[in-house]
Amino acid sequence: MIRVSVPATSANLGPGFDCLGLAIDMYNIIEVEEGGDGLCIEVPKEDRSIIPTDETNLIYTSMATLFDEVGYKFNGLSIRQTNNIPIAMGLGSSAACIVGGIVAANYIAGNPLDIQDLIELSANLDGHPDNVLPALVGGITVGCLHEKKVYYSRLEPPTDVSLALIMPNFELLTKRSRAVLPKEIPFEDGVFNVGRAALLIASIIDGNMDNLAVAMEDRLHEPYRKELIPHFDDVVDMAKESGAKGVFLSGAGPVIVSVLKKEDRQSFEENINISLNKLDGAWSLKWADMNREGVIVEEL
Ligand code: HSE
Repeated sequence: MIRVSVPATSANLGPGFDCLGLAIDMYNIIEVEEGGDGLCIEVPKEDRSIIPTDETNLIYTSMATLFDEVGYKFNGLSIRQTNNIPIAMGLGSSAACIVGGIVAANYIAGNPLDIQDLIELSANLDGHPDNVLPALVGGITVGCLHEKKVYYSRLEPPTDVSLALIMPNFELLTKRSRAVLPKEIPFEDGVFNVGRAALLIASIIDGNMDNLAVAMEDRLHEPYRKELIPHFDDVVDMAKESGAKGVFLSGAGPVIVSVLKKEDRQSFEENINISLNKLDGAWSLKWADMNREGVIVEEL
């Protein structure tokens, strides 16, 4: 039996739509055993209405894709899925299933694929590399999918930074959140985002957190998606007023991420809680650290 621990992820980081991402210390656990007859998938009781336990399960379909790719004929499979990453909140729960399935299948098949192959297979399954890449390699990642290949860089996360995940009491499916995006954008919005994405990466490398307020601004997706997220602008303003250095919509949403200096955590928490309480309990705060290791496989 193997156990695969896959971190949550946050994509886009503001201006880096479909290319920037980071890994978070919060894990889905997937236990897999080859053998026996057929397919047996166990998911937590509370997730049974939304996660299939047949051959359409995303972990299983991802495993089957890798087995096909490398020509491995598997016997029966038992998969047990424990979801600590909330579903449809913009924290990479689907990417975690894809990465977990791909990594588990590669291990079972005797590790025929290297990390670059795993990244490309996962990114092509997800459609973009911004969640799967940090889930695989940890840290902060920049990745572009070009003709099915992934070109990427990984940055080491700063040690003095915490993430405040501001979570609403509703879910938002990525499909719905992508459906509101425009087919075309004004040229000046492209210029706006290119400058900010470049400034963001340079500022992470330099450790210049004072740039983040501007460097995490976006005009490609947040202005459209916020229509699906009641009080989005209020929460962003509250986070900034409470001391966040940068604020962005996590992936397709609806979680909003605030980037803080660790030393500012306590005052941020006190202030934001007072503000969030004015929104009738619809939003709550969860602290997270960035993950450095990426996915981990253990033999039990
Ligand atoms: N970059 C993706 C998006 C992440 O914003 O739609 C979610 O899959």
